[in-house]
Amino acid sequence: MLELRVADVATPCAGVRSVTLVGDGPLPSYPPGAHVGLEWAPGRLNPYSLTPTPSPRGPTPRDLPPGLDPEEYHLSIALRPDGEGGSRRVHALAPGDRVRATPPRSSFPPVGTAAHHVLVAGGIGVTPVLAHAAWHAFWGNSFEVLLVQRPGVTPHAADLRALAGDRLARATDRTAVPALLDEALRGAPWNSHVYTCGPPGLIAAVAATARRAHWVADRVHAEPFVHAPATGTPFTAVLRRSGREVAVGAGESLLDALDRAGVAAPRLCRQGVCGECVTEVAAGRVEHRDTVLGDDERDGHMALCVSRAAVGETVELQL
Ligand code: FES
Repeated sequence: MLELRVADVATPCAGVRSVTLVGDGPLPSYPPGAHVGLEWAPGRLNPYSLTPTPSPRGPTPRDLPPGLDPEEYHLSIALRPDGEGGSRRVHALAPGDRVRATPPRSSFPPVGTAAHHVLVAGGIGVTPVLAHAAWHAFWGNSFEVLLVQRPGVTPHAADLRALAGDRLARATDRTAVPALLDEALRGAPWNSHVYTCGPPGLIAAVAATARRAHWVADRVHAEPFVHAPATGTPFTAVLRRSGREVAVGAGESLLDALDRAGVAAPRLCRQGVCGECVTEVAAGRVEHRDTVLGDDERDGHMALCVSRAAVGETVELQL
């Protein structure tokens, strides 16, 4: 865990708090779309996307790629009054306060071989998209952005405008979104990739539009900012080392079921954020619900705290 100090706080718009965190020196580098797990109570972490360092010319310093050897981490967090308490804790932070966070983890990176990048952000989902846009602007990549935000709640909209210029389309009325998505995906050149961060409805709308436009699934990427529940359809986990079978009920996580069976398994955040519980999967398809494993790590691994066997499957774990 990183020991960090709050250097500054700001309120870019109603209900959103921006926090600048520093360490004792340069902080670990991170790719666009990465997040840190911020500890808001002992052992409880929430994932928050890292946004680029603001500069007088906008959030894209021209001398260093965004995220390389940063002196500061910047987060923008929407207040969720009815949440478990993570966002309330962040909104109460003041300069000088100490916080702990995981090193950055990348689960939503740009694809280097893409010919063009279509970035779609809903609400506070603008944060990782801003990091993507800063990266593409820095390297001169081809990209465009669709930003969907409610009137008056527009964190980082001006920053995105500074980066994307006329490549930014904005919608404050949800009814305008389907046509804008359709236009962006049907008009995109061959080998474009689309990246969405926002509420489940927006992610589903992008996926549906991509399907209709005959995009292959590999070119459609998403990062939900609402935690997936750890519960779902019952399944069985087979523990390879002992040969034991553990039944996982509908209302519990795999980690809960292992605890109940007396099987020791590492864990920290219990939210699919920190990676502590990631375990090798020897057989069986997994429904991944974490935000820690990259696409290339998902084959053969699962986060025990949130992910489950795909419906009708049994998973065999190297436990
Ligand atoms: S305990 Fe953190 S990812 Fe599972």
